[in-house]
Amino acid sequence: HHLGDKEMWIRRLWPSVPHAHSRLFSQMECVSASPDVLVTRRICSSLMEHLIEERQFACWDSEDPMPRDVLLKECVGKSGILCTLNDKIDLELLNTCGEQLRVVSTMSVGVDHINVEECERRGIRVFFTPNLTETTAELAASLLLAVNRRLVESERAVRSGEWGAWKPEWLLGRDIFQSTVGVYGLGRIGEHFARIMLGFSPQKILYSGGRGRKPEAEERLRKLSGGTIPVQYVEDFNEFLASCDVVSNHCAYTSSTHHLFNEAAFQAMKSSAVLINTGRGKHVDQEALVHALQSGAIAGAGLDVTDPEPLPTDHPLLDLPTCLITPHIGSASIQTRRNMAQLALHQLDQGLQ
Ligand code: GLV
Repeated sequence: HHLGDKEMWIRRLWPSVPHAHSRLFSQMECVSASPDVLVTRRICSSLMEHLIEERQFACWDSEDPMPRDVLLKECVGKSGILCTLNDKIDLELLNTCGEQLRVVSTMSVGVDHINVEECERRGIRVFFTPNLTETTAELAASLLLAVNRRLVESERAVRSGEWGAWKPEWLLGRDIFQSTVGVYGLGRIGEHFARIMLGFSPQKILYSGGRGRKPEAEERLRKLSGGTIPVQYVEDFNEFLASCDVVSNHCAYTSSTHHLFNEAAFQAMKSSAVLINTGRGKHVDQEALVHALQSGAIAGAGLDVTDPEPLPTDHPLLDLPTCLITPHIGSASIQTRRNMAQLALHQLDQGLQ
């Protein structure tokens, strides 16, 4: 029996799968009469087809999230839940679900949609997918380059016929070269973003936030540039903001980082500086950001996350040419989404053993 690529891959992940079944399932299909696991989304169709036979899965076979009432109904009695960041795993859900719940595996690096403390108290294991680091850092870098060099305005000018003769002072942007790049939260993603930035030869890289100074990360970054580009921790948030030409947010969203980027923060930033956010929309006080961009308190913003998501199409941020918004695609590369689905499923399976 010849195993196709897909099947081989499944076997590596789940050696116990006897053979592959290619069966499709329709919305909220349960293979067994009493499914043990709820998968709240079609996360990776090629994987799911095979796995649904092995474990007793119930799967919401849709690109869109489960409506809350359906989620509350379907979670009852399950031992494991594989969710995404759209599914609130809160006290209500945990109570509704029942005491048999042992594992929550989310296909995201953020866990702010999960009441982790309550899960811990109940002995429920929570897994997340940190294997999106490079992909997310690359998006932050893309947003920065696009905002700094005004790519959206430039592209529109080509389409609209505004493009005339070459002009010495038209569509001027900003360099990363010789600038001060600020990383807020030098964790996995923040550090990779800093690595990417080193390639643009900034004058220095400053970082702040997170859990304080990171001498080992500093050393790794220092080695990469052969010591030519300083990497320094700045404890004071206002001092950090005031020193940077770019501030890229990479910290976790918690109650203490809610609206971290507020009016006072924008006042502290240079008027020539830009904010990049690939964290969570609620890291930023959006109303304050609108004012900061309108008044010129800061020069631009690149956001992959907003509050709410999706952002209403008539939102004032969308009228600002200095603001570039993408629809929460930080981890959206073909390979990384596949890796995340694989890891989320694997951890769910391991956690239930
Ligand atoms: C995406 O936002 C994630 O947390 O993975």
